Order: sequence, then C-alpha cells, then structure tokens
Amino acid sequence: MLIDQRHLPGDLRIERCESVEAVARAIRELRVRGAPAIGIAAGFGVAIAARDSTAEAVADLFVDLERAAALLKATRPTAVNLAWAVDRVVAAASGCLTIEESRQTTLSVAQRIARDDLASCHAIGSHGAPLIPENARVLTHCNAGALGTAGYGTALGVIRSAHAAGRIREVVVDETRPVLQGARLTAWELLCDGIPVTLITDNAAAHFMQRGRIDVAIVGADRIAANGDVANKIGTYGVAVLARAHDIPFYVAAPLSTIDLSIPDGSHIPIEERSPDEVTTIGGLRIAPDNVRAENPAFDVTPSRLVSGIITDRGVARAPYAESLAALFRESTLSSARQASA
Ligand code: MRU
Repeated sequence: MLIDQRHLPGDLRIERCESVEAVARAIRELRVRGAPAIGIAAGFGVAIAARDSTAEAVADLFVDLERAAALLKATRPTAVNLAWAVDRVVAAASGCLTIEESRQTTLSVAQRIARDDLASCHAIGSHGAPLIPENARVLTHCNAGALGTAGYGTALGVIRSAHAAGRIREVVVDETRPVLQGARLTAWELLCDGIPVTLITDNAAAHFMQRGRIDVAIVGADRIAANGDVANKIGTYGVAVLARAHDIPFYVAAPLSTIDLSIPDGSHIPIEERSPDEVTTIGGLRIAPDNVRAENPAFDVTPSRLVSGIITDRGVARAPYAESLAALFRESTLSSARQASA
C-alpha cells in the first residue's frame, strides 16, 4: 500500500498495488516517487511477483522474478536505488531451495529494505543536523522527505533533526516545476510537522540568496557517481551554481544505496526524459500553445566541485569524493561483516 502522491496535498489517498504491473505503473506515473521510495516499492513488487507466480519449480519461479525485475527496472532509469533494491530481493531468492522459502525470503528482504531505509534517514538526520547553522534559513528543492523514503526523509531528515535541535528559523522551498514536488509535497510535509516554511518559485532562488535570505541549501539525490557528481531533480544544478555564486554551503543528503561506485562520474548517469505534457500543462491545465515543442529532462547533474558535503547514513563525505565515498563503503562493508559474525 502506498500514498498516491499525485493527489497531494489536496487528497491523501492510499493505493493498494495487487500485482507487479500495478507497482510498475505506480512508479512510472509518480504515484510513488523519490529514489529510496521507488526502490522500496520495487522491492515489494518482486515479492508480489514471487507470491503470484504459478511456477511449480524453483527455476521457473526465478524466471518469473527476472521478468518482474526487468519490468520494474525499466520504469525509471535515473535513481540507482531502484535497480539496487530489485537486484537485492532477486539475489536473496536465488539462494532458496523451495518456492515457499523464496516467497518468504523476497517478502522479508523487501521489508528489511524499508526498515533499513527508515533507520538510514534518521542517521542522515543525526549526521547532518550539526552542519546546519543556528537560526538557519534553509533552501531545499523538490521533495527529499518522508514521502520520498520509508519515512523522515534525507534532506528533510536533516531539516527535521535540525529543527528538533532548535536550529531552523525558516525553510525556503522551491516549487520545483514541472511536477511541483516542492509546492505540493515538501510544503505539505513541513507544515504537517509545524516547521516554518516559505514557498517560492524556482526562479526566485537567486533573488533570495542575493538578499541574504538563505544560509544553507540542502537537497536529496537520485544517483551519486564515484567522484561525487550528483543527479537530482531538474533545477538542482542551478541551485548549486547559485549557492556557489553567493558563498552559501550546498549539501546533498542521501543513503549509501544512492551512491553508484560503478560509474566514475555524472556523465554516465542516465537522465530520464519524461512526457512534454508535464511542461505544457500544470495540474492538467494546458498553459502552452498546442503545437509547441517541449523537452522534459527530469534530472540534472551537479558537478561535485559545487557540493560542500554529502551527508550519508554512515557520515559526511567531503572532497575529494572519490576517496571519501569509497572509504564510507569500506567502513560499511566492514561493519556489516562484523555484525554478521557477532
Ligand atoms: O521525479 P522524482 O520526484 O522521483 O524526483 C525525486 C528527487 O529528485 C528527490 O530529490 C530524490 O529522489 C531524493 S528523495 C529522498
């Protein structure tokens, strides 16, 4: 079951996905969105495929799981969490000897991914809150909140923890065209939590920075390359350039599951192209001439030289990122190995 985010903030509707196709459609249509949240949903999609498979032999069940994995992975290409979660659930099933064991294992691994993500968000909040100055006015872009994760959020996790520590004066939220995740979702989440929020248009960010109204910018991520280049919602790169021009720290908050050490830099990150209709309409209302050509890249890549720090569930990485990110992974593998042997 997931919140159908297309209807927020007006309507809080819960959708029940009863098939892997329904999960894939929910991801494709942004009913569920945000890198960790689509990974979690896709993980449950594989578990549903295991539940629904009519296979009588484990090998045949595995064929069904591979088919489900391909369907889910094809929905959205940029967030690495999606493929990461799908592969993790399918890999867990590969060690099972019976169909029933495969069903139980896929479900429990999907549940663990969701539980771990919530814990990661709280850890990101704890690591990031001390980076937020006292009485801070924080700019954020898109929605890297509870809605985009298992709960609490990444960038909004840092903001929530900083708010609990009494450090937040105001959160300034970019509306985030074309789909308005900032206006619809981030503004709603912050209001629900009683955190002071001011909504601005995307093109007002430079003005607010120039007037000294922003102390720090913080965003989430869909994929981070080995050198620290960050893919996030379209417009993030612009925020980072503006932050640098105004000497404002620009932080990225994301769990290790968003970091893709297999690609050297951001030029290798696939950028999702979405329907031009999202540009030519707002909330279903056409705002552009019928025959105008429009392009709609959903993400952009911020070069790591513009990033002041990457706040992960395992600590804060600083430049040079090729070394600091690799070190976080080494430590995380070590501590998982220690936990397994304890
Ligand atoms: O297209 P979306 O809404 O899925 O894009 C989401 C973002 O860009 C978020 O900032 C990112 O996934 C982090 S969510 C914790």
